[in-house]
Amino acid sequence: MTGGVTQRLAGPEGVAEAARLLLEGALVAFGTETVYGLGADATNGAAVARIFAAKGRPHFNPLICHYPDAGAAFADVVATDSARVLADLFWPGPLTMVLPRRVTCRVALLAGAGLDTLAVRVPGDPAARALLQAVGRPVAAPSANRSGQVSPTSAAHVLDGLDGRIAAVLDSGPCPVGVESTVLDLSAGGPFLLRHGGVTQEALVAAIGPVGHGITPGQAEQTRTLRSPGLLVSHYAPRLPVRLDAREAAPDEAALVFGAWPEGGGARFQLSAGSDLTEAASLLFEGLRHLDRDGMRAIAVGPVPDQGLGRAINDRLQRAAAPR
Ligand code: TXA
Ligand code: MG
Repeated sequence: MTGGVTQRLAGPEGVAEAARLLLEGALVAFGTETVYGLGADATNGAAVARIFAAKGRPHFNPLICHYPDAGAAFADVVATDSARVLADLFWPGPLTMVLPRRVTCRVALLAGAGLDTLAVRVPGDPAARALLQAVGRPVAAPSANRSGQVSPTSAAHVLDGLDGRIAAVLDSGPCPVGVESTVLDLSAGGPFLLRHGGVTQEALVAAIGPVGHGITPGQAEQTRTLRSPGLLVSHYAPRLPVRLDAREAAPDEAALVFGAWPEGGGARFQLSAGSDLTEAASLLFEGLRHLDRDGMRAIAVGPVPDQGLGRAINDRLQRAAAPR
């Protein structure tokens, strides 16, 4: 997508065009009541991989999936009683809930960074909801800025960072809230507040009772999750040890293959026969899960070039290989 022309869309026709582009697998930024999101069809792993490429993110953070209403959201995750209460009170609005994925969840594993949980939200902005309705699929969207830059609250901010790197921006005017949504983990042993945001802690406590700070808000949580994925009970890490930069795999090793390497192995999963990093990113978590099976001693991973999305792939693989 780099080097292309970014269309500026608005109004009902803009919504229809934005939906068409998303269903084609293209990236479209759109306004919500909090900040502009960089959207992709969450069911399309390759489209989700393009989000990380466009943002220049060195690692795969779990992304929030956006839905037009609670019914659509709860088709992909298991809603608890508290989740239903909060959905009635605060959706559409700036609250994100982390809940267990359903077995039937349509969302690509990459969108949730391989976790067994998924962050879901129903945004308050009418244009955003019209877009989500028209797409008819969950839309994964982090804030629409380059990695390390501030979150955009207007279409012009989005273009400052991403012009030429995304297919379009749907301009619905400035974002009224201006800070990201509150992230609440309701998945296990919670509720835990993971990020302060548009819905206050006081409002949450009034609705469902005590809310813990399982993890300190914002960046601290992000850093902790990224540095030690095993710290989050729900975080998927393979049970088998992971061996990196393997050119050959033993018969009792499962091979995670990129292009030609490793050769051999008692089981094999090809990330991308043509050595395409976007394709490899979209299949990474599927591959790790597929190979993490009984009867194997380790997962042997072929070398992945440390450039572009390859850096994010290697970051995740290094964490999977870290001693536990
Ligand atoms: O207001 C918002 O939430 C904006 C707009 C576009 O909706 N989106 C946004 O997305 O801020 P992002 O990717 O920048 O932030 C997602 C946050 C991160 O802190 C991430 O760690 C957390 O949600 N998150 C996502 N999925 C999670 C999961 N399964 N478990 C724990 N935390 C999760
Ligand atoms: Mg962000």
